[in-house]
Amino acid sequence: MILKGTLRVASDKSITHRALMLASMTKGITKIHSPLWAEDTEATKTIFTGFGVDFDDENGNFVVNSSGIAGFKRFIPARPLGGVDAGNSGTTARLMMGVLAGITQWFPPIFGDESLSKRPMKRIQIPLELMGAEILLASDGETLPALIKGSKDLQGITYELPVASAQLKSAILLAGLQAKGTTTIIEPTATRDHTELMLEDFGIEVKRAGNQISIQGGQTLQSPGDVYVPADISQAAFFMVAALIVPDSDITLCEVGINPTRTGILDVLEAMGAQIEVVNQRLFGKELVADIRIKYTDNLGAVEISGDLVPRLIDEIPILALLATRITGVTVIKDAEELKVKESNRLSKTADLLTELGAVAIEVSDGMVIYGYPDRELFSDEALCSDSDHRLAMMLMVANLVTVGELNIHDKHAIQVSYPNFEKDLRGLMCQSMGIL
Ligand code: S3P
Repeated sequence: MILKGTLRVASDKSITHRALMLASMTKGITKIHSPLWAEDTEATKTIFTGFGVDFDDENGNFVVNSSGIAGFKRFIPARPLGGVDAGNSGTTARLMMGVLAGITQWFPPIFGDESLSKRPMKRIQIPLELMGAEILLASDGETLPALIKGSKDLQGITYELPVASAQLKSAILLAGLQAKGTTTIIEPTATRDHTELMLEDFGIEVKRAGNQISIQGGQTLQSPGDVYVPADISQAAFFMVAALIVPDSDITLCEVGINPTRTGILDVLEAMGAQIEVVNQRLFGKELVADIRIKYTDNLGAVEISGDLVPRLIDEIPILALLATRITGVTVIKDAEELKVKESNRLSKTADLLTELGAVAIEVSDGMVIYGYPDRELFSDEALCSDSDHRLAMMLMVANLVTVGELNIHDKHAIQVSYPNFEKDLRGLMCQSMGIL
């Protein structure tokens, strides 16, 4: 079914988490416009409720009223004997450790669901302990649950990140804001810089030079009053690919965040030859947004995805892999080992699912090699399981647009963590193409 019309996809998950965190840490009132309402961001919000921060829902916007981090009440878990529940959200767990590192208290355990409980946390423990926090990880020493005791005496550090991770960088920046002296982070490759931009929006000076980011501890957060959250380019990616694989599609995605640390997907689609227009660029606070028009394009060509590009499209690789099966040539994805420790092992899971559909996708040690056959029929009559990974469930739902029969997607509920209205929005574009909306 053809996709046509205009859509504002779900709001940016990374930016909503940061807005909730900084608004909660700041004394006074901050209004967050168009936050993402989904299970991941709800987890972050619920944790701050446990510190006495007040969130009012005003027509889908959050009015956050806080006494600031210095005025936080002693943490009360949402459920009796509960802990700091991060659910499925790596951003919540990791960035919260940076926040909690500056609060003197042994917190009840930080824990997550089955998927989050397998993801690496030692990478956060090491720098925060160097700064003066105490962190105990599960008996394997690598994963959640984590016990953390913060310190009022955190010390700034200079730290070279062993992996390109915005979550790790952000955890250290949030601890660095509460530390004595300067904290400097050296990144191996640039990662999304929403934390840096939002800290600046909240009146904090963040110095950046090349691959180094420095923050002076002890600065006071000041509410900008209003924070506007753009639509999420990682969610827009599913619709861009949908439009590129369904002939005659022509859609416009509005208010999409086009922060250059996130636009690897646009670079790849342009390099493949896709018809894309990025128009009406403007700023939401310090974040660049635009409207993106994308039209079905025949004869897209394969490209290599590697190096510095990878962190700029890390979450888009499963949906790009689906696109790669529908174009001419061989798509090579390299330097993407981090995908093995996402909500699922996204390298093996993506390759397995595409193979189950009849495509040729081979996992290699740090990526995937995908042989594209535009005319090959894709289908599976088996129940397909995303391993409860929201991005894989959405990838399958987009694949369903071009398979020869209806797919049986077993765990669609996974999309609740980032895009509860995904299916409705996809149908909305089909209805617009039929003139129903
Ligand atoms: C995120 C950073 C990325 C990304 C994740 C959200 C963030 O993870 O994959 O979905 O909000 O900072 P890493 O920083 O671990 O690469």
